[in-house]
Amino acid sequence: MQSIQTFPPGFRWGVSTAAYQIEGSADVDGRGPSIWDTFSHTPGAVANGDTGDVACDHYRLWRDDVTLMRELGVSDYRFSISWPRVLPSGNGAVNKAGLAFYDRLVDGLLEAGIRPYVTLYHWDLPQALQDAGGWPERATAEHFGDYASVVADALGDRVQDWATLNEPLCSAWLGHLEGVLAPGVKDLTAAVRSSYHLLLGHGLAAQALRSHAAVKPNVGLVFNMTPCEPATDSEADRRAAQRADGHNNRWWLDPTHGRGFPADMREVYGVDLPERPGDAETIAAPLDHLGLNYYFRQIIKDAPELSAPSYHVLPVPGAQTTAMGWEVHPDGLEQLLMRLHEDYAATSVLITENGSAWHDEVGADGSVHDPDRVACLERHLEAAASAVRRGAPLHGYYAWSLLDNFEWALGYDKRFGLVRVDYETQQRTIKTSGHRYAQLIAAHRRVTAPPNPS
Ligand code: IFM
Repeated sequence: MQSIQTFPPGFRWGVSTAAYQIEGSADVDGRGPSIWDTFSHTPGAVANGDTGDVACDHYRLWRDDVTLMRELGVSDYRFSISWPRVLPSGNGAVNKAGLAFYDRLVDGLLEAGIRPYVTLYHWDLPQALQDAGGWPERATAEHFGDYASVVADALGDRVQDWATLNEPLCSAWLGHLEGVLAPGVKDLTAAVRSSYHLLLGHGLAAQALRSHAAVKPNVGLVFNMTPCEPATDSEADRRAAQRADGHNNRWWLDPTHGRGFPADMREVYGVDLPERPGDAETIAAPLDHLGLNYYFRQIIKDAPELSAPSYHVLPVPGAQTTAMGWEVHPDGLEQLLMRLHEDYAATSVLITENGSAWHDEVGADGSVHDPDRVACLERHLEAAASAVRRGAPLHGYYAWSLLDNFEWALGYDKRFGLVRVDYETQQRTIKTSGHRYAQLIAAHRRVTAPPNPS
């Protein structure tokens, strides 16, 4: 890859995972249930009836996984903490055994020379908090702030890099409007209230990290962004694309950048926000970095017959699509990086997730040759490099994902890993894409290494 030298010296090369998708050990060492335990055990909610009960058994095999990361040569590991492992009821009594797992993991990473990047919330709300009303209730945001303090007290002497939330869009819109993710609610008011309390929770957690972490934290928030393009030039489709952009991007970016919730989208949703004095400032807590997760763009067609935000997402004729049915569109990554730079004056961006699912085949010798994933990786890195040349303040790239894992409502069939997991034996095999990523990281280190003084 020609452009590898474009990335600055010290560029962070990582892999990402999330607790419920890999840990397993769902009822071990005092962990409480989360909304994902409930959802995945609800008949019909997840493909094949899959659950995260065992997943990649990372809770027990984490040392092997750190060894894999060393083999890949990554500098960083982004993982999430299971809130119900630390606080089984969501608030109140701390489960020391659960917290100790992350303590061991952080120490193990540091010993291996890998920088830990902790996400506090990757969708696994403690079920007890859901039973008390969940994200539509303000108390959940307040409990999230308290949970952040507990984790910062425990790990903030060694962890520097933090994200409060991963993809709050999915928690709010997919979990509470479309009902395809936990907790499986379909209610616009609940969804809009959730979006508000998620961002309030982000602000409270950012405050907690800054006041509790012993080492000055680098606080971020991770958004999954999507370029939204009108299907035609018609006024109706152009307005629908603006609504889609509001729904996917501006609703999240504007309030966290001090601009408040966008007026056009308040009107589209028609739901009163549970605002209180001071909340806007809390939500706009300064960000040390922004995490960008990128997978696809959306082509938008007006659909007035649908409820808000009233649009269809159309397939792109002739486009290459992944096993998820998502279009491969690396230009969208460049476009979003430039937007964060030019429209939101971002000072530091990390691509906290990017990757692709394919129907991997295992060779007779057990190897996994995944040329489509290799091409996707290279093409997205080229797009990111192009944005860097145009001035985007990009400081790291984290591949999704280290391991094949539990792809939420789609279960284990969709494989995103650079490393294959055989779920019968828990054997890990680095795929060709993992080897390619390792080569690229090594090449970048070679070209950016300071000259030898001798
Ligand atoms: O697996 C998910 C992850 O949990 C959040 N971002 C998108 C990934 C692929 O769908």
